[in-house]
Amino acid sequence: MTVKMAEVMEVINRYTPKGFAPKAGLILGSGLSSLAEQITNPVSIPYQAIPGLQAGAVYGHASLLVMGQLNNIPVVCLRGRLHLYEGVSYESIRTLVQIVKRLGAGVLMITCAAGSMRPEVGPGELMMIQDHINFHPGNPLVGPNDETIGPRFVSMDDAYDPMLQDLMVSASNRINIPLHKGVYISTLGPSFETPAEIRAFKSWGADAVGMSVVPEVIIARHSGIRVACVAAITNLAAGMSKEKISHEGTLHFGEIGARKLIKLVPEFLKEVSNVLG
Ligand code: HPA
Repeated sequence: MTVKMAEVMEVINRYTPKGFAPKAGLILGSGLSSLAEQITNPVSIPYQAIPGLQAGAVYGHASLLVMGQLNNIPVVCLRGRLHLYEGVSYESIRTLVQIVKRLGAGVLMITCAAGSMRPEVGPGELMMIQDHINFHPGNPLVGPNDETIGPRFVSMDDAYDPMLQDLMVSASNRINIPLHKGVYISTLGPSFETPAEIRAFKSWGADAVGMSVVPEVIIARHSGIRVACVAAITNLAAGMSKEKISHEGTLHFGEIGARKLIKLVPEFLKEVSNVLG
């Protein structure tokens, strides 16, 4: 099914408070949704209410698009992301990112859980993503191109906006939260990687591995949205530790990362608002 953005926005506009103009979109990864609880005057739209987003493909209660204020800055937040491993189409992910764009946000702040391939960056640490390797089996821009959204061939130089990276570093310094930096590689999942895959990814120059982020970044860059991304490290990647990797561990250490992100993201948004107006 082809999703018509006009129909999508008709639904979104019905919920949108008068005069609401988000400065930033926010995508919250696994175990990081407590950040959404910081949003004041929230208006929530269940993904199921959005045309084209089938109810079966989403997590249930956590799948909400939330509009409101974070640190007095208007944001639109995707609480509960869609993953390709759920059988979700690229189109569904595109719809969500396009809503952020159509509401007028020029910045997308992405958070995610990830495994670290750097032994010194352990569970509970934050890593700012500076570049990525797309190891998903495809690209969300395959198919006819809508020139009104963006060009056929999209540059991925500076996919992770250098100015936003500077603002993130100064926000983290101001509140004393250590921030590592690295390259993210995406896998389809849902199985975790083998130790051999991790050794290969390391040799390619990747520092963190996860099952999301990359489609969202490509879609955002196609439509000219500037992207910042911080991963909450939930485990050392396969073969690097005696601990077995599990979703439960991801949620537990994601919560530790979330406590840091709850401080870092509002501080970052304040910087963004000061610089970009
Ligand atoms: N691999 C893939 N995705 C992940 C991991 C991992 O080790 N940790 C959290 N998300």
